[in-house]
Amino acid sequence: MAIIYELKKAKKSYGFDVNALDNVDLKIEAGEVVVILGPSGSGKSTLLNILSGLDTLTNGEAFYRSESLSKMSENELLKYRYNSLGFVFQSYNLLPSLTGRENIELGKTHQNDADLNNVIKKVGLEEHQHKYPYQLSGGQMQRVAIARSLIKKPDAIFCDEPTGALDEEIGKIILNELQKINKEEKTTIIIVTHNPAIAKMGNTVIYMNSGKIVKTEKKKIKYRLMN
Ligand SMILES: Nc1ncnc2c1ncn2[C@@H]1O[C@H](COP(=O)(O)OP(=O)(O)O)[C@@H](O)[C@H]1O
Ligand SMILES: [Mg+2]
Repeated sequence: MAIIYELKKAKKSYGFDVNALDNVDLKIEAGEVVVILGPSGSGKSTLLNILSGLDTLTNGEAFYRSESLSKMSENELLKYRYNSLGFVFQSYNLLPSLTGRENIELGKTHQNDADLNNVIKKVGLEEHQHKYPYQLSGGQMQRVAIARSLIKKPDAIFCDEPTGALDEEIGKIILNELQKINKEEKTTIIIVTHNPAIAKMGNTVIYMNSGKIVKTEKKKIKYRLMN
């Protein structure tokens, strides 16, 4: 299996005493669903921000498909994020003045001709696509966010607490949606959460504490829908 991400002695410090990442070594295989678990402040978001090129390391190195992220310029990191990655955050980051459909269209890059209608259908938004964000429920807004990242056929989708603001039922639907994408498109999915129930959907579960990876679990069951 190809390695999509690798960290070597990755360190991210703030000031003298905060090590958000403390000498982390990590390999992630392409096509995995990775769940990163840990208490608040353990470094989960920092890890995600490093892999997705939103932030840079203080020490050590980060690689995306054997390219060094640590050596990329701001502009190269921007291109990497724009061309290769999808993001699903707790705060959906939708533009309020655009409909769901228009928000999804924003994710489209000129690199591919992904079919807007197809993506809208895939996430079950056909009936709601012409509504504005204020007319959509939390779960529907999150589906718009997922569709927006899907339309560019990303290599990886990063999710930071994707179900945090949603009720449990809708959270499960969203997670199932992400699993489906992983299965059908072979997209690598990396989910950060403090909710241990979500760990069930990962085939790799990484436990973090105080900026360190304290345990990694690999599971054989690859596509297990939550119930
Ligand atoms: N921009 C920042 N400036 C200073 N400290 C930060 C910054 N971002 C994160 N931290 C600190 O780094 C540690 C890890 O934070 P974070 O990665 O956000 O944890 P998590 O996502 O697991 O809650 C925390 O102690 C946090 O306070
Ligand atoms: Mg966080």
